[in-house]
Amino acid sequence: MKDRVVLITGAKGGLGSFVTQRFLTTGARVVGTSRSISKEDFPEPNFAPLPVDFTKPAAVREAVETVVSRFGKLDVLVHVLGGFAGGKTVAETDDATWEQMRDLNLTSAFYVLRAAIPHLRKSGNGRIVAIGSLTAVEPHVGLGAYVTFKSALATLVRTVALENKDAGLTANLILPGTMDTPANRKAMPAADPSKWVQPGAVADLALLLTEDRAAQVTGTVIPIDGTNV
Ligand SMILES: NC(=O)c1ccc[n+]([C@@H]2O[C@H](COP(=O)([O-])OP(=O)(O)OC[C@H]3O[C@@H](n4cnc5c(N)ncnc54)[C@H](OP(=O)(O)O)[C@@H]3O)[C@@H](O)[C@H]2O)c1
Repeated sequence: MKDRVVLITGAKGGLGSFVTQRFLTTGARVVGTSRSISKEDFPEPNFAPLPVDFTKPAAVREAVETVVSRFGKLDVLVHVLGGFAGGKTVAETDDATWEQMRDLNLTSAFYVLRAAIPHLRKSGNGRIVAIGSLTAVEPHVGLGAYVTFKSALATLVRTVALENKDAGLTANLILPGTMDTPANRKAMPAADPSKWVQPGAVADLALLLTEDRAAQVTGTVIPIDGTNV
């Protein structure tokens, strides 16, 4: 990965911080985005922070162009960014929740894919890995907005895989179950976090999908569910 330029969204979140750290250990040039990210978040020479709000299409396009003009290319996109809201039936869901779930879980992916694909195609062995959710494989009471946009994300990523096979660009989606993140520990204090998916294991899978040995793996949707079976 040493000569590869990697763009990671949601880079300082519960999962994103593991993904970012994992790619940094490979020696790749890693650009991490979130609204508030800074150099102090990952004080390593091969890390570059790029603050950007992914609900703004012009800002996303500008961020991708900044990466390419600064590092000369883009080889890998790991789209970790997403957001969760639950507890309301569809009939109770307000506009703000619907729009937030749409913007964070689906539209952000569309914006960054649209901007990044032309550059990833030029890489010759470009890679896209996106993070969905195991929960969103089936409908769930009280999670209508979240599962709707996460399942649409799977269709979007699989379409991108089909459209870019000719350029050696792969696109795959990982579906984690509940992960052992600080936010989940706080939200579910009575649960046993050892049963949850380890974010480090998801980061390892994301890295594997970007390696040369995964060149023929594309259009897949891969669940990772820890030991909570
Ligand atoms: N946590 C779980 O158990 C779980 C399970 C299955 C799937 N997932 C999925 O895994 C992914 C990561 O989840 P997580 O729990 O690690 O998320 P998280 O901790 O909430 O992190 C979200 C990240 O996105 C950034 N972000 C939020 N809004 C943004 C915006 N408008 N523009 C740019 N960046 C923004 C945040 O940083 P800033 O605040 O600095 O912007 C943060 O870095 C998501 O796609 C989620 O749906 C999570």
